[in-house]
Amino acid sequence: MSQKKTSEQIRAEFLRFFEERGHTVVPSASLVPQNDPTLLFTNAGMNQFKDVFLGTGTRPYRRAVDTQKCLRVSGKHNDLEEVGYDTYHHTFFEMLGNWSFGDYFKKEAIRWAWELLVDVWGLDPDRLYATVHAGDDRLGLEPDEEAAAFWRSETPIAHDHILFGSSKDNFWMMGDTGPCGPCSEVHIDLRPDEERARIPGRELVNRDDPRVMEIWNLVFIQYNALGDDRLEPLKDRHVDTGMGFERIVAVLQETGGSTYDTDLFAPILQAIAEASPRAEIRGYHDIDAEPAEREKVRVAMRVIADHIRAIAFAIADGVVPGNAGRGYVIRRILRRAVRYGYQTLGLHEPFLYRLVAPLEAKMGDTFPELARERAYIERVIRAEEESFLETLGTGLAFFERLTPYIHAFATASDGQAASVRERLEADRATLDLLQKAYVNAGSRDALIEAFAATAAARRIPGEVAFLLHDTYGFPVDLTQLMAREERLGVDMQRYQELMQEQKDRARAAAAFKVDQSRAGEWEHVSDGEDSVFVGYDQSRLEGARIRAVRTVETEEGPQYELLLDATPFYAESGGQVGDTGVLRVGDEEVRVLDTQKRAGHIIHYVDRLPRALDAPVTAEVDVARLARIKKHHTATHLMHAALREVLGPHVKQKGSLVAPDHLRFDFSHFERVTPEELRAVERRVNEVIQRNVAKLEERDVPLKEALDRGAMALFGEKYGDRVRVITFDPDFSVELCGGIHVDATGEIGLFRFVSEGSVAAGVRRVEAVAGLDALRYLDRELDELERVRGQFKTLQRPADEEVADLIEEKKRLEKALEEAKQARLAAGLDAFIGQARRLGDVRLVSGRVEPADMSTLRALGETLRDRLGGGAVGVLGTVDPEGGKVYLVATVSDDLVARGLQAGKLVGALAKRVGGGGGGRPTLATAGGRNPEALDEALAAAETVLREMLG
Ligand code: ALA
Repeated sequence: MSQKKTSEQIRAEFLRFFEERGHTVVPSASLVPQNDPTLLFTNAGMNQFKDVFLGTGTRPYRRAVDTQKCLRVSGKHNDLEEVGYDTYHHTFFEMLGNWSFGDYFKKEAIRWAWELLVDVWGLDPDRLYATVHAGDDRLGLEPDEEAAAFWRSETPIAHDHILFGSSKDNFWMMGDTGPCGPCSEVHIDLRPDEERARIPGRELVNRDDPRVMEIWNLVFIQYNALGDDRLEPLKDRHVDTGMGFERIVAVLQETGGSTYDTDLFAPILQAIAEASPRAEIRGYHDIDAEPAEREKVRVAMRVIADHIRAIAFAIADGVVPGNAGRGYVIRRILRRAVRYGYQTLGLHEPFLYRLVAPLEAKMGDTFPELARERAYIERVIRAEEESFLETLGTGLAFFERLTPYIHAFATASDGQAASVRERLEADRATLDLLQKAYVNAGSRDALIEAFAATAAARRIPGEVAFLLHDTYGFPVDLTQLMAREERLGVDMQRYQELMQEQKDRARAAAAFKVDQSRAGEWEHVSDGEDSVFVGYDQSRLEGARIRAVRTVETEEGPQYELLLDATPFYAESGGQVGDTGVLRVGDEEVRVLDTQKRAGHIIHYVDRLPRALDAPVTAEVDVARLARIKKHHTATHLMHAALREVLGPHVKQKGSLVAPDHLRFDFSHFERVTPEELRAVERRVNEVIQRNVAKLEERDVPLKEALDRGAMALFGEKYGDRVRVITFDPDFSVELCGGIHVDATGEIGLFRFVSEGSVAAGVRRVEAVAGLDALRYLDRELDELERVRGQFKTLQRPADEEVADLIEEKKRLEKALEEAKQARLAAGLDAFIGQARRLGDVRLVSGRVEPADMSTLRALGETLRDRLGGGAVGVLGTVDPEGGKVYLVATVSDDLVARGLQAGKLVGALAKRVGGGGGGRPTLATAGGRNPEALDEALAAAETVLREMLG
């Protein structure tokens, strides 16, 4: 091979090879699998064709070829731990694949694989090995003799290069369930000839030697795995192949098997080197350091180069770093990368976001989403980096303080342990830190006891891992990684316990607003189902029955709770506040103060319990209040849709409050929403209000259908199989929602934003008003404007112009005043100059001027120096206008500076007498002090000090 091919050429050649053999070139699917709850991220090329293999979907072609973005960071296929430590594992990678959907099978797949590798790309047949499935009793499968036979008949491969392998390597499954089948892998031996002569490659296949590696996997899909080793044969037989793109590029670019030495990574690694403030890191291959340190730097560079691809591509596909699910996986990867940069490459400022540009330059043509979303990706990454860097340093310092003690306890003999303990007892700072981790240890001795015991087992305490997670944002796998680098473990069991306790606490806190120990028992009133909600259809219900009541003692006195068989009262949920109203029980009227849901029961909080518990109840919601709530709820939906239109589809609901008089909405977005953008959203919402769009309410839609229709769902929220869908114009607002809405948008009348701000990194909060509340808000704003206008007797022009003029005028007057003061002070200088004292051939002028600030005094010093001319020293002092501070300025003429006199020294010596210090140029220097009462004395001392200096 003379000229090495670029990665772009290699990718194109693969696609063309199969296109020429009747395959349709299809685009990569998203990294986020669509509607496959068994999978967090796309982990293989075949994911997007799972339905075709299972026979539940079809495509307009029977052969396909593509390059698929894959992420192997969770679940069955997870390479995260390997990344960085070797030179050929990745979290994110491209998988080249060719597919047959019930069309060709083993024979063609094998023949074409060989043809492309050997005939087209010129790989040495002597270095290639093919593995086939050796059969599996557990799965009830015979050896795949058929595949072996095709390797012999369709290719000239040496027969002893065909190896049989176990299910671990030669039976491919997507996960515990789903399409699967025996597979045949191609491996390549990249070792030098001498080594190959000594140990034949066949002995190193699948033995983790970085130079004998798998490059292509041909899977013969024939079964659907049902779990527990049960296989169900599929109707058709399919081919699913996957070639690691980065690896084949490494092979063809002859890098010795290192994917990081290909042109795919070169620009990113170079950008990392340039970002690092460590001068000795000039490039991936140009690191001026001892071998061990050099390798450490390279590991960090590889980790970062790998991780930035995973992060950027995931965000481009809509993942937002967060605390759960996909978002948390990406956050963990990002924090891992930041940690390597911080500790090893000295990168203490956000830097990852700066790697998006070189990545996009290299891959943006193949994956246009990178180019399209680049600015957004950079913003998201940067915000994440900033927030983690705030606590990373403190967390690392904590970790680094503890590890020496853990090592010491781990290696200490019984006798030595006592002295380690003594050392720790004397180390206040470390003990204080440990105290934060062991919040419940009781005594200090118990704390040290617990810490020493875990440390003796070479483990980081679960308490420490939990604190790092909870307070400093360290994902636990990051702590594990750091522990591993120290050859320590982490007490994961204790960590999990603490996590569970925290979850329980959170749940308990959410479930009970009052002290349950003081809650009375429910008093059973009548039998039957309770809490049937009828509020979607009516706000008044006659003939309801009380099912149970109870009294709860709270700080504010007794609280009364009541359950009905059925109720029109909406219990707070989905951000919408609970209903209020009245219950008429016989001739009594009981007020409902709030409605909440607990464990499926709709609890009415009432002002007192009715006397006749068994009388029929008429339940009446306060409809005027509900009408206002409805307007704000529908307005929230319209605003959500409009925000996505104006700001982009990354806008996702993060929190919501729908009250009678306002709405509050938190959403993901990475910068301030500008006034123009807010206006655009407002206009859009008001336009939909004016169109008076009717509500479409569907109570029983299959979840999948709703999602297919683009209904907005909250990420991480659990929904049942059938959901309620609220639509205001199918092209505008479709949401899964259990709340109460207006019948048509016109009822809202008017919508206005009231405020916009930030609540957390990457989360914005808006508040808005609708209906009469919006009108009232506008009225108030207009009143204020009227009052401003009223301040001007004759208003010729718009108020804002008049105000701008006033501000301008004020600035001008302030300046004139300052100039007048300078002039007056300067005139006063003449009196000082007249009283100049002579010390030999030097004139000294000193004096106290009226209160002024430091810059005024300095300007006055300049004037004095100019007026004095040669052979002169000036010292002026003043107190600031508030009288709390004192300022001094000293000047020395050029000829005296030439004789060694320095204004800085002079003013410094005087400043000591007023409790301060200062300095400046030899010709003019200033100082400040805290004792105004000592100013006169300091000025008087100028003569003595100067005499001493003149010697
Ligand atoms: N689906 C196969 C794999 O991922 C090709 O290895």
